[in-house]
Amino acid sequence: MASVQRGEGGRLLPDSLVFRAMRLEDVPSICQIEQEAFTSPWTAEAFINELTNNHFARYMVMMLDEDVIGYGGMWTIMDEAHITNIAVRHDYRGRGFGERLLLELQRTAVFFGMNRMTLEVRVSNEQAQRLYRKLGFTPSGVRPGYYSDNNEDALIMWAELDNRRAGERA
Ligand SMILES: CC(C)(COP(=O)(O)OP(=O)(O)OC[C@H]1O[C@@H](n2cnc3c(N)ncnc32)[C@H](O)[C@@H]1OP(=O)(O)O)[C@@H](O)C(=O)NCCC(=O)NCCS
Repeated sequence: MASVQRGEGGRLLPDSLVFRAMRLEDVPSICQIEQEAFTSPWTAEAFINELTNNHFARYMVMMLDEDVIGYGGMWTIMDEAHITNIAVRHDYRGRGFGERLLLELQRTAVFFGMNRMTLEVRVSNEQAQRLYRKLGFTPSGVRPGYYSDNNEDALIMWAELDNRRAGERA
């Protein structure tokens, strides 16, 4: 049986959880998660383009026992990190993995000198908004009709990053 460690909020997480930079060979797994997570999923080409052509882009995968169970990405511009997407495989949600993943993205952003982090989230996506609030994000405005599939508004959220967190481990 895999041993466990205490994660953020005291939840038990397997110690075989690994974070690493996303690679091209991860794209098929990422697209599976993307399709179950989003109504307008990014294509494989979009991820390949991010990994090969976008020098501002940093993408990370979260692995459990050799399987990709989540991923997240951001653009780091000046001292601001803009989260582009974050998702956890459906069967692994609600167990603290999303929180670990976002914390890892925040630490990575701090490591690269970022002072703030921002993202857009559907106004109806209360689960994600709760996660973001828990990790320091506050709403700062709305982009009306931002999501073209249903014309839904996006809530814009920002977090100040704590530079002391760069070297911390959960
Ligand atoms: C959003 C997402 C990444 C969260 O990942 P997760 O592993 O389920 O989240 P965690 O178990 O780490 O929960 C962390 C916090 O998120 C919030 N949360 C998670 N699931 C929730 C639920 N079902 N209802 C309400 N809040 C929830 C809570 O604040 C929770 O902290 P708490 O348990 O101490 O209350 C995941 O649900 C997901 O992949 N969703 C689909 C893709 C998506 O919407 N991405 C965000 C786009 S902006």
